[in-house]
Amino acid sequence: MILVTGGAGFIGSNFVLDWLAQGGEPLLNLDQLTYAGNLENLASVEGDARHLFVRGDIGDSELVAGLLRQHRPRAVLHFAAESHVDRSILGPAEFVETNVVGTFRLLEAVRAYWRELPEGEARAFRFLHVSTDEVYGTLGPDDAAFSETNAYAPNSPYAASKAASDHFVRAYHHTYGLPTLTTNCSNNYGPFQFPEKLIPLMIANALDGAALPVYGDGRQVRDWLYVGDHCAALRRVLEAGRPGATYNIGGWNEKANIEVVHALCDALDAAVPKAGAGYRAQIKFVADRPGHDRRYAINAGLIERELGWKPAHTFETGLRRTIAWYLDHAGWVANVRSGEYKKWMERNYGDRDGLRSALPVK
Ligand code: NAD
Ligand code: DAU
Repeated sequence: MILVTGGAGFIGSNFVLDWLAQGGEPLLNLDQLTYAGNLENLASVEGDARHLFVRGDIGDSELVAGLLRQHRPRAVLHFAAESHVDRSILGPAEFVETNVVGTFRLLEAVRAYWRELPEGEARAFRFLHVSTDEVYGTLGPDDAAFSETNAYAPNSPYAASKAASDHFVRAYHHTYGLPTLTTNCSNNYGPFQFPEKLIPLMIANALDGAALPVYGDGRQVRDWLYVGDHCAALRRVLEAGRPGATYNIGGWNEKANIEVVHALCDALDAAVPKAGAGYRAQIKFVADRPGHDRRYAINAGLIERELGWKPAHTFETGLRRTIAWYLDHAGWVANVRSGEYKKWMERNYGDRDGLRSALPVK
């Protein structure tokens, strides 16, 4: 079997569902169920005997050692993390705890397990660390896209914590020979994304009649990848990636934030027309994110050449699917926007100029 950490979050749950749908082997899913983890994401595999869920912390060394001993996975895919840049700005400590210390403890438990495996199993074992393009810092408008050899220059506490975890993974390969794989991916979007991130936040606020809070001038550029394409890339890296290697994953799809928000508004105008002005009228430019990276772009040439992976979705097809999913899953959205979410919205947006109207959550 394989062990997945963070498999109740956005990308992790998409990975688990895809893995099982494609006839994959049994999977042990270790997730602490923080605000971002949601068992509702996994409801469709509830009766599937190949999915074993354990609620727990990657930093609980005893728990992880016991799970490894008992289930003897052939690979670990490490998704679990604190993942939201704005939260890292308002409270960096948890990012150090989970992303740095948690990853370190997980690596220690895995190293102890791996070292006792019979030679053939040890050679075939893989630790796949799921990371981000944000470790490379920010680009100017004409800079070349990030490649695997770019120097690390993380700018937010989130990016710094992911960079630190990448360095530990690298060191465990270099020093102990642990067969690691690291992937650095660009911005994902798709089903089950928590509505604190740009695309699902804008969809939810638009349908609520609330403000669509665009940070700064909205000209920051991100490279967008449909989550299903990320999952396919991870399966391929697990299958054929070179131990010790890093692979950048991206969609060749750079867009300014304001273009993304316009595309969402126009798609919603067509799908859920409303009286009066269209959804674009709800856009509000608000105080910028401190230290906001201006541009990310991924050169995904290595994974294409070496492993033959390419994204299957364009931004248009991915966005269409994503919007349809959110429109069909109003119950899921309502559930995740209760409780802690309201406090988060108040905390992050309450002090941004002119933004009381971003707050009402039904
Ligand atoms: P997410 O915030 O939606 O999910 C994180 C999951 O990890 C949640 O289910 C949470 O309960 C779990 N978790 C958190 N702390 C834990 C702990 N101590 N022990 C066990 N489980 C814990 O995140 P996501 O967007 O799905 O991102 C998954 C991974 O992919 C992260 O490592 C992130 O850095 C990376 N990544 C994300 C993106 C993106 O666009 N979302 C892009 C590139 C890389
Ligand atoms: O690049 C990969 C990263 O992408 C992942 O590692 C992170 O886990 C993931 O959260 C994402 O980080 P971003 O900061 O790029 O994503 P976010 O959706 O928070 O923001 C996307 C852009 O939209 C960013 O430039 C900030 C802007 N934004 C975001 C929010 C939430 C707004 O203008 N308004 C908003 O309310």
